[in-house]
Amino acid sequence: MGVVIGETAEIGDDCTLYHGVTLGGTSWNKGKRHPTLLPGVVVGAGAKILGPITIGREARVGSNAVVVKDVPEGATAVGIPARILDAESKARDDQAKKMGFSAYAISSDMNDPMVKAVHGLIDHASNMDQKLTEVMAQLEQLGVHLSETQKAKDDFDPDQLNKIVD
Ligand SMILES: CC(C)(COP(=O)(O)OP(=O)(O)OC[C@H]1O[C@@H](n2cnc3c(N)ncnc32)[C@H](O)[C@@H]1OP(=O)(O)O)[C@@H](O)C(=O)NCCC(=O)NCCS
Repeated sequence: MGVVIGETAEIGDDCTLYHGVTLGGTSWNKGKRHPTLLPGVVVGAGAKILGPITIGREARVGSNAVVVKDVPEGATAVGIPARILDAESKARDDQAKKMGFSAYAISSDMNDPMVKAVHGLIDHASNMDQKLTEVMAQLEQLGVHLSETQKAKDDFDPDQLNKIVD
C-alpha cells in the first residue's frame, strides 16, 4: 500500500517493501536516478530511499529512514539521514579492558555510531581523569605542593553521563 517505485529503480529478488516505502529520485535528470536494491533487502514502513544509490544484499532499512547513501551488504540503516549501524562492539570492549576498567552502563550490543562516539569521549575523559589523579598523587609523594584548586574535584561523573546518553 502506498509504495512509490521510481522509473529507474531496480529491485532484486526476495526484497520486502513495507507500506509507504518510496524508492525516489532527487532530480529530474534523465538516466539512472533511482535506487538499486540487491536481493534480500528489507525496507521498513515509510522509509525513503533516494537517488541512484545501491542497497547491498540482505541489508535492512529501518522504518521511516531516509537513505541517501549506499548501504553495504548485510548492514542496517536507520534514521534521517540514515546512518549505518555498526554491529561490532569488540573494539570498544578491548579499549575498556586496556584502560583497566569496563565501560560504564554499556550493553555489548550498543551500536548506534553517535551514541558510541559520545560514550567513547566520556570514557576517554574518564581515563584522563584517572591518570591525572594518579600523577597528582605521585607528585604529592615527591613533595610537590599542589594548590587547593588543583586538588579540587569537579562534578565529572562518567557513570551518570553514560546513563544520560543511553
Ligand atoms: C533534501 C534534498 C533536497 C537535499 O538535496 P541536495 O541539496 O542535493 O543534498 P545532498 O544530496 O548533496 O546531501 C546534502 C546533505 O544532506 C543530507 N540529506 C540529503 N537528503 C536528506 C533528507 N531527505 N533528509 C535528511 N538529510 C538529507 C545528506 O546526507 C548530506 O549530508 P552530509 O553533507 O552530512 O553528507 C534531497 O536529498 C531530497 O530529500 N529531495 C527530495 C526527494 C524526494 O522526495 N523525492 C521523491 C521522489 S518520489
